[in-house]
Amino acid sequence: MTRIDKNSSDAVAVTVRGLVKHYGETKALDGVDLEVREGTVMGVLGPNGAGKTTLVRILSSLIQPDAGQATVAGYDVVRQPRQLRRVIGLTGQYASVDEKLPGWENLYMIGRLLDLPRKTARARADELLERFSLTDAAKRPASTYSGGMRRRLDLAASMIGRPAVLFLDEPTTGLDPRTRNEVWTEVKRMVGDGVTVLLTTQYMEEAEQLASELTVVDRGKVIAGGAIEELKAKVGGRSLRVRPADPLLLRPLAVALDELGITGLAATTIDTERGSVLVPILSDEQLTAVVGAVTARGITLSSITTELPSLDEVFLSLTGHRASAPQDTTPDETATDRQEVAV
Ligand SMILES: Nc1ncnc2c1ncn2[C@@H]1O[C@H](COP(=O)(O)OP(=O)(O)OP(=O)(O)O)[C@@H](O)[C@H]1O
Ligand SMILES: [Mg+2]
Repeated sequence: MTRIDKNSSDAVAVTVRGLVKHYGETKALDGVDLEVREGTVMGVLGPNGAGKTTLVRILSSLIQPDAGQATVAGYDVVRQPRQLRRVIGLTGQYASVDEKLPGWENLYMIGRLLDLPRKTARARADELLERFSLTDAAKRPASTYSGGMRRRLDLAASMIGRPAVLFLDEPTTGLDPRTRNEVWTEVKRMVGDGVTVLLTTQYMEEAEQLASELTVVDRGKVIAGGAIEELKAKVGGRSLRVRPADPLLLRPLAVALDELGITGLAATTIDTERGSVLVPILSDEQLTAVVGAVTARGITLSSITTELPSLDEVFLSLTGHRASAPQDTTPDETATDRQEVAV
């Protein structure tokens, strides 16, 4: 797993205090506090309607809060929007490129809007297209791009002004796994360059991949926050992932572990996709007993690892409900989510 905080310092790039935003009866943000240290990635995790986009829009000065304060790179989001916009980049939840224009034109135009001289804007467009592997598609209208190419163009666009702080609102929602990986790689490279990132997501895996710290939001409120590993450790015990060298031994291995009678050992689950058996363990003694028992039965293992609980499980235990992306839920559950949002 990649942790990207090599640039981290004690300096704070984003400070949010008591942020409130209401839409009629809806409390989109209901007193949010958070801090993002310079050079780190803060993940803001929450289900549909949690208030993530509202937060990003306030932090990028697109809308104003009803109460509370926020500063980004030292600028107050309400009182210093002009200075603020010069030091931030924003990739919205919905693609913001001009469909009719070719990729290169999109980037050049944004460069010019940011007051870059023509020559600089040209060079920057070339450089960013190269970097985001879009050079071959530079002259084609963005409407002909795939979803992943568009998202990469979006990311490139947000980098034109060399932002110190980058806001990414659900950068990979709706992308296939391969394209998602491409976007993650680019985000990691940006962070490698020293950019501070606040990223909203509904994907546990995304937060684990990119963020070192996490703020969990639900219905406009922060329900948990801290280092990802700490949050996970707080919520539950470890699991042992045991993979037999011979996949045919998966079931016999699970049965054997269940029948071992190791004191307090919870039931195993079989993960056929990854060819392994998961055993929740509470102590190092149990871990040793499992290894000993497997060896005694003569089962050859190809790997054995310990895992902390997934962020999905963390969310469930913090909120009492699952944080599922719409495409991961049944239509009924999605409908329930929407109703909750509307209340
Ligand atoms: N312009 C608006 N007018 C009225 N209600 C709004 C507006 N913008 C947001 N809301 C409401 O505020 C709440 C938070 O919305 P927000 O878009 O910030 O959530 P989100 O976490 O970004 O959700 P998603 O994951 O679906 O993008 C929701 O209940 C939403 O319906
Ligand atoms: Mg949103």
